[in-house]
Parts: sequence; C-alpha cells; structure tokens
Amino acid sequence: MLKLAVLVSGGGTNLQAILDAIDHGAITNAQVEVVISNNAGAYALERAAGKGIRHLCISPKDYESREAFNEDFLRQLDSYQVDLVVLAGFLVVIPPEMIAKYRNRIINIHPSLIPSFCGKGYYGLKVHEGVLARGAKVTGATVHFVDEGTDTGPIILQKAVEVQQNDTPEVLQRRVMEQAEWKILPQAIDLIANGRITVEDGRVRIAE
Ligand code: GRF
Repeated sequence: MLKLAVLVSGGGTNLQAILDAIDHGAITNAQVEVVISNNAGAYALERAAGKGIRHLCISPKDYESREAFNEDFLRQLDSYQVDLVVLAGFLVVIPPEMIAKYRNRIINIHPSLIPSFCGKGYYGLKVHEGVLARGAKVTGATVHFVDEGTDTGPIILQKAVEVQQNDTPEVLQRRVMEQAEWKILPQAIDLIANGRITVEDGRVRIAE
C-alpha cells in the first residue's frame, strides 16, 4: 500500500479528486496518510478532517528563518513515513534537502502543458492569463516529478484542453481543472501505486 502525503495551500479540489478516486477504486493500492497545508485557513484541511485523515499546518511564517522552516518541515514529513509526496496546489518552495531525500517520490500538478507557461512566476491564475495573452488555442495540465528546478522534472502525464474564444483566466482555470487536473493527478498516483512508472535518463516510462 503506497502511503501518500498530500501538500496543499488552498481549496483542495485536487485533494478531493484523489480521495474520490481512492473511494471509487480508480486509484488502487494507495492511501492518504497525511495532508499538510502552509495555510491554516485552507479548505483542503477541512476536507481531510471530514475524512478522518491526519492533517496539519506548517508555514515558513512561523519560523525565524527559511533554514529553520526547511529543517522542521523535513523532520515532520519524515515522521509520517510516506512513500509519495503529492503537491496539489502547494505554494511553498520545496526545500532542496527534501527534493534530494525524496528523489522521484515527489510529484506536482501544473496547470499547463509543460514546457509552455511554466517556471518562475507561472502559478495559479498567472498561468491562464499567460495562455490567453499569447492567444494559445490549446493548453492543459502536466503531472511531473519534482527536481531542483521549477517545473523541470520528468513528465509523467499530460492532458490537453481547448482554449475558447471568450475565456477569462477564471473560466479557463476551471476547465483545465475539470478536464485535465482532476483526471491525470489521480491517474499518475494509480500508476505509481501499481509499480508502472520508472524514470530513466530523466524520462518517464510507463509499463503496459
Ligand atoms: C491547481 O490549479 C493546481 O494546478 C495549481 O494550484 C491549483 C490548486 O487547486 N498548482 P486546488 O487547491 O487543488 O483546488
């Protein structure tokens, strides 16, 4: 059984998609061990509480320095002994020590087709604003392993979504979530939980 930590900052609709997929059997061999938020008011924490899942808040704001936060964050995560860390809208930079220790065991969902509209500055609505400003006709979402760069790790799954003529960033964000994020994040977890993902030379292979 793959034990997951899901890291969140906001509404937690991706967390909900994971919980629903586990309930409905679309994800097998996995369970959510802990939900961690950097924001005490995140609705995602209520979703976890409602399911009886352990949950906690840890924020850099409560520490003297980033080093102190990074050290305690890693210590707390380690204490849950999880196999996979899922970044589901988590807005805090992952400490380099955590990336090294959890190599190919941290995944992130990004709301565009990487390598477009990703990297520094592209988060939340800014991604969708960028897509609309460029006049792109297709966007989507990407699940990838987390490495030391921003959105540069090995790509696991991607799904395309059409941009429509009158989209606002909010409307496009919602469509990308519904049509892509809530599908490929659970799918990627299921593939990992069932041993079908390997990483070779920085590229992901999916076993048939
Ligand atoms: C999603 O759009 C995700 O791609 C981005 O942050 C958002 C999180 O939404 N990184 P939610 O908290 O899962 O509802």
